[in-house]
Amino acid sequence: MGYRVRFVDFPEHYRKIKSEVDSVIQEVLIGGDYILRRHLKEFEKNFAKFLDVKYAIGVANGTDALFLSLKAANITESDEVITVSHTFAATVSTISQCNAKPVLVDIDQYHNIDVSCIEAAITEKTKGIIPVHLNGRICDMDTIMKIASDHGLHIIEDAAQAVGARYKGRRAGSFGLTGCFSFYPAKILGTLGDGGMIVTNNKEIAKKLFLLRDHGQDRETGAFLFHGFNSRLDNLHAAILKIKLNHLPKWIERRREIANLYHEGLSDLASLQLPPAPNEGNFYDVYQNYVIRSNNRDELVAYLRNQGIEILVSWPKPLHKHKALNLDHFNLPLTEQISREVLSLPLHPELSDSDVGFVVDSLHNFYN
Ligand SMILES: Cc1ncc(COP(=O)(O)O)c(C=O)c1O
Repeated sequence: MGYRVRFVDFPEHYRKIKSEVDSVIQEVLIGGDYILRRHLKEFEKNFAKFLDVKYAIGVANGTDALFLSLKAANITESDEVITVSHTFAATVSTISQCNAKPVLVDIDQYHNIDVSCIEAAITEKTKGIIPVHLNGRICDMDTIMKIASDHGLHIIEDAAQAVGARYKGRRAGSFGLTGCFSFYPAKILGTLGDGGMIVTNNKEIAKKLFLLRDHGQDRETGAFLFHGFNSRLDNLHAAILKIKLNHLPKWIERRREIANLYHEGLSDLASLQLPPAPNEGNFYDVYQNYVIRSNNRDELVAYLRNQGIEILVSWPKPLHKHKALNLDHFNLPLTEQISREVLSLPLHPELSDSDVGFVVDSLHNFYN
């Protein structure tokens, strides 16, 4: 079905920056600069500056950012890592890929880790916490950092959905041992395929990550220092992302404007639960997704799709309910309730005010 309001609009997004993107692609092709070249180094430098962190290491995707971070933190067999079930599979799967045990706790009304559940989940095997800054809102990092320091735990931030978000003035990804980002095309800062980044302020961890992503090889001496992986961010993606990073602040502002339009347009619908409106208090949210809650979610989704509005549901079934993942012994009531109620409305910088108005009117029509 051709949607009247798309969830993301890749062709229009490209059209707006076509000349810049086309010319940097040409530059890369003409220079033959494909692997670990100048554009990657420049993008890493600019990304680190944007986040106000010391090091940025470009990797193949957001999943590898998490996996290599766990490896760099020496998470291994019989260790436990605390995170949530209401997240993309990669957050939990990467813990399992290290042969460690994911320990899942419930979420709060903001769909982020419920910090009041963390301490009860800590055992002598716990080595780390992965807070997921879902939908562009940072977790309660004051409390999480305090728990981590009290118990000597590593924090690996899953900031795949939160590039540019701030908590008390600090950017997502800059609190923990590492911060992990995804440049999947539909992300706020997306490339033409897969891409990811790890950031850190820790020199030793940065050094290890630069090696881990490139076979464990010291390129200057040729020596292999350990068994590593091939997970480099392609220079072509880095070149495109470097251009897009310059536009990011204004794209984020437009996302916040749209979130505000939704907030104003939908606040009178008592049957819906809305995310917090954008404000300049402790939380500067970037709205990777505009997620609302409804008791009759499935009918509402069908109605909106029928009106020509593309809707996503992330996620209708929490990870611990997928039997094959062997995580089904957790009791997470709010996680389960939220996964029955959530739906994501279209929100991207290419959306016009009248598109937003149409979505708002359609929601009113449904409830009237
Ligand atoms: C919360 C979260 N974590 C991790 C990832 C994994 O990122 P990637 O798709 O780049 O591997 C994603 C992306 O979909 C995500 O949304």
